[in-house]
Amino acid sequence: MTAHSIVLQELPADLQRERLPKHVAVIMDGNGRWAKRRGMPRFMGHRRGVDALKDLLRCCRDWGIEALTAYAFSTENWGRPLEEVEFLMTLFERVLRQELREMMEENVRIRFVGNLNALPRSLQVEIEKSMEETAGNQGIQFTVATNYGGRQEILQACRAIAQQVQQGHLNPDEIDETLFEQHLYTTGICDPDLLIRTSGEMRLSNFLLWQLAYGEIYVTDTLWPDFDRHEFHQALSAYQQRERRFGKV
Ligand code: FPP
Repeated sequence: MTAHSIVLQELPADLQRERLPKHVAVIMDGNGRWAKRRGMPRFMGHRRGVDALKDLLRCCRDWGIEALTAYAFSTENWGRPLEEVEFLMTLFERVLRQELREMMEENVRIRFVGNLNALPRSLQVEIEKSMEETAGNQGIQFTVATNYGGRQEILQACRAIAQQVQQGHLNPDEIDETLFEQHLYTTGICDPDLLIRTSGEMRLSNFLLWQLAYGEIYVTDTLWPDFDRHEFHQALSAYQQRERRFGKV
């Protein structure tokens, strides 16, 4: 825990509890640069990134935010050097194994979204185990996007719906937003109200393309391993100053 996380265990007084986002999504960018600036190998940045994510999850719980979704690995990330991809897969597996007991104690419900079948078998086993064991928990909903691509998610939903039409179970006129959402990986989870992206990039990078249609976007230059409760407080203050109109006047 950093000094900021110890000080900021309660919701800061200047934030309005009733206007907090219900669901926060994060693009955890800048791990590699964080490590490079310190003359360390990139993997050290990913390790520190896990610590930042763990503290953000606890902070969301402490401050009463209902859901957190993190972009851990995109469909494009396979293009990284093999040793980095292997490191990340092993890291995910190890973190899951190590944190499961604590997630149970803290009542966290974890869910993985993405094309999970393409992940290493041993990681799939840990993922299934963690989702099954935490399924009945009533605390924060923690979603990890792994081998996730927003376009791929939309395409697989289209394919599933087209099959239902082809088999005569569905009339094309019945396809509406509610039905479409039932075929997304994230079905049952409300759309994120706030997307935070670290390290200054102003892109969605194929993340939750459907779900973020009306999400507020907050970008900070801070690199992900340095994103702490103080930074999160700033993001929430900025969010509370926004007027959300959902296309209305
Ligand atoms: C982006 O930084 C970060 C990633 C691709 C990996 C993020 C994963 C974690 C923090 C681990 C999460 C763990 C679990 C179990 C959910 P980058 O490597 O693109 O940094 P750069 O832009 O500076 O190169």
